[in-house]
Amino acid sequence: MASEAPTKSEAGPPVGGDFEALLTQRQNEGWRGLFKNGRALSLALFASLGGVLYGYNQGVFGQVQVMSNFVNRYTVTLTNPDTKALLTSILELGAMVGALTAGPLADKYSRKYSISAWSLVFMVGTAIQVGANSSVACIYVGRFVGGLGVGAISMLVPMFNAELAPPGIRGSLVALQQLAITFGILVSYWIAYGTNYIGGTGDSQSIAAWRIPLGLQLVPGLILCVGAIFLPFSPRWLMLKGREEECLTTLAMLRHSTEDAPEVQYEFRALQAERLVEREAAKERYGYEDVNLRVNLLEYKRLFTTKPLLHRLMLGAGAQALQQWTGINAIIYYAPTIFESIGLSGGTIGLLATGVVGIVNFVFTFPAVLFVDNFGRKPILAWGEANMAISHATVAAIIAVYGPGFENKAAGNGAVFMIYWYIANFAVTWGPLAWVVSAEVFPLDMRAKGMSVSSATNWLMNFTVAMVTPHMISSIGYKTYIVFMCFCIVGFFYSVFLLPELKGLSLEEIDRVFHDDSGAEDRQRRERIAKQIGLDKVAADIQHKERTNNGTDAGRLA
Ligand code: BGC
Repeated sequence: MASEAPTKSEAGPPVGGDFEALLTQRQNEGWRGLFKNGRALSLALFASLGGVLYGYNQGVFGQVQVMSNFVNRYTVTLTNPDTKALLTSILELGAMVGALTAGPLADKYSRKYSISAWSLVFMVGTAIQVGANSSVACIYVGRFVGGLGVGAISMLVPMFNAELAPPGIRGSLVALQQLAITFGILVSYWIAYGTNYIGGTGDSQSIAAWRIPLGLQLVPGLILCVGAIFLPFSPRWLMLKGREEECLTTLAMLRHSTEDAPEVQYEFRALQAERLVEREAAKERYGYEDVNLRVNLLEYKRLFTTKPLLHRLMLGAGAQALQQWTGINAIIYYAPTIFESIGLSGGTIGLLATGVVGIVNFVFTFPAVLFVDNFGRKPILAWGEANMAISHATVAAIIAVYGPGFENKAAGNGAVFMIYWYIANFAVTWGPLAWVVSAEVFPLDMRAKGMSVSSATNWLMNFTVAMVTPHMISSIGYKTYIVFMCFCIVGFFYSVFLLPELKGLSLEEIDRVFHDDSGAEDRQRRERIAKQIGLDKVAADIQHKERTNNGTDAGRLA
């Protein structure tokens, strides 16, 4: 999920009061902006398919793993916690590799063809899993290959979408992606709950019970694969390739407008400015005429070796690592197993309870999506961690006292409730906000790189948690929750003491927070180039036009 977070002045260089005011206004269109703009909305919905695939993958395998036909077929693997863990987590490993390699390839071959090609990779991986013979090797290979695809898509689709959408709705896109992920998880749970009954629930269960939920992923995969070919090229990519005329035509088409309309001209010149800024920085910093592979690598080096940038990276990647160590995916992946361990006996009851996890997760993402920009990050994150820590502690205590027999039904229900409470708190807080924070801590010129490292951290930690959880459950039992509780406490301290409040700050203010003047140099360059290519004049034109329109509206109303 590599889309951009909402910050006040991200769309371009601040030049003069009018220009700043215009940017702020453009940045704050939020959900209204999304619905105002039909093409942006359809693109955003298309992008959601990438999120749905991501979520479906997160959810489906936990269900499949407890189905009796699957268990009987791969007994040896599933009774060993190590191999059981690897079977789940190998997908996340593939996803990390996919997410890291997708960026440079997308610069070379375009966003849309990359999306199409990676969807094909994803489909190959899925087909291998669906057609797996009785050797578990097929499942491992299929999940790794499928992971490559899903990891790449999880960053490419939102990136493509952010590049096509008008600047004011970028923040909403982050939230929409999270909604799509949770929708994918929800759908996967309920589909598997339904197919679980095919052929009966015990030993008579049909092989179709798990092949169908795995195979159904091919449908959105195919839609993405074919649909992406018919999409326009991203304007930013066209500019990157020096195809300026096509860039302008595409922008006009996307905005339902003409090439000389001030809004279109404004976006076009902002892209031009951004491109010139990148080239000038490459030349000044490293002596290269353009941004090539070496410049990119040197920029990564700068990210890791310049103190204020490293500080920002630690906070961004830290947010992603802590998001995973809340233990969310221990529950998403192993919920049926966890519910069985707290007394919900019988595979179907466990699956039903898991289905409810999917609903709670989805429903509680809505308030986050709607109000993401109304509250500060720090209190929301701290609230989330405190409640998740309490949930973990309570579940641990209940299992310690009443497990493993769970004669006391009320105690079992209490534990189930606390797991739902945990999910609700994750969904409104760390679910979307980890992605928002990991975007907004970086200065503009480092945002893409910073986010790719942070997203890779998310996948790596996702992999680690998926790997260690079955092991912890079988060796330390209820203390597994204590481990996650400790991480939630760390996350609480991170939110209160380490993370500065960034909501609503301009890029300059954020630089000041980090005592970082590398951003200032970048900003001056932007400002100068923006003036050179007349961006400030276009901004003033738009401002004037909008004022006149507003004046007319006010007159009419009066
Ligand atoms: C996380 C995923 C998780 C999902 C659950 C996302 O923000 O990155 O790992 O499965 O939320 O809703």
